[in-house]
Amino acid sequence: MEIKTVAVLGAGLMGHGIAEVCAMAGYNVTMRDIKQEFVDRGMNMIKESLAKLEQKGKIKSAEEVLSRIKPTVDLEEAVKDADLVIEAVPEVVEIKKQVWEEVDKLAKPDCIFTSNTSTMRITMLADFTSRPEKFAGLHFFNPPVLMRLVEVIRGEKTSDEVMDLLVEFVKSIGKTPVRVEKDVPGFIANRVVAPRGVLLHAVVEAENLTPEEVDAAFRKAGYPMGPFELADYVGIDVNYNAARYFARAVSPEYEPPERVRKMVEEGRLGRKTGRGWYDWSGGKPKIDL
Ligand code: 3HC
Repeated sequence: MEIKTVAVLGAGLMGHGIAEVCAMAGYNVTMRDIKQEFVDRGMNMIKESLAKLEQKGKIKSAEEVLSRIKPTVDLEEAVKDADLVIEAVPEVVEIKKQVWEEVDKLAKPDCIFTSNTSTMRITMLADFTSRPEKFAGLHFFNPPVLMRLVEVIRGEKTSDEVMDLLVEFVKSIGKTPVRVEKDVPGFIANRVVAPRGVLLHAVVEAENLTPEEVDAAFRKAGYPMGPFELADYVGIDVNYNAARYFARAVSPEYEPPERVRKMVEEGRLGRKTGRGWYDWSGGKPKIDL
């Protein structure tokens, strides 16, 4: 098995960044989303990011990297020649199921399947396909172009060969792989971080704290972002879907609070929609004590 062509499904915050890092490492990439406007937005984010990296001398030519990325809305075109599929579609089981059932029919028999899910058990996703031994988790962190860690997660049926190949693949794109041998919701990082979200909302409400107060305190303590700012950065909907999955798969305590549900309903999804906990319409919010 050799990986030359990568199909990234989803051109959102994670998908576009994953496509970008794969193309930077020399892979041929197809990036697929369901609507042309989503694909265009993803390509624009890649262009902006590559321009910054070129300016800083971190890549030689943005044009050259871009030429390796083929955007499309056609799922068959995206996956038919792929050696590796990285799925980064919304964290909703029904959506992932539908995508994987289709991909399973369209991809080459030896193509490896991976999901960038931040929470869902890999064994469950693998069972939506006919090749669970070729299915693993490949969990990137936001923004993929800057964050070093990638969790490589083994499902119950993932073969050793696929795990080893993916670990090498992660190294080949300049990231640090961590093998996760136990397929639990949230894997390592999100499993550990998830309870913090539950406590955070409880403490903030009990103490009547504002997001600015909490985030400013975290920043002063040396964190690059506070938890509310980070939630806006990652996406309120992403965190909401992750919490809902945890509530079903781990414990009802993880059910997201009513005010977060309302934010999702109102489209206040964070930086990407201009509003979440903060107003991002004028650029980065100023957070200070
Ligand atoms: N491409 C290229 N360059 C980028 C970039 C991108 N996508 N995003 C930011 N940069 C550059 C900026 O241009 C800037 O460059 P400069 O210093 O030359 O001006 C530099 O990176 C720093 O960016 P900013 O000035 O905008 O902001 P910060 O100093 O706050 O850094 C950050 C941004 C690196 C994202 C930092 O805030 C950080 O590390 N935040 C925490 C991120 C984190 O914890 N991510 C994990 C989230 S959890 C997750 O993803 C799991 C999932 O399952 C949900």
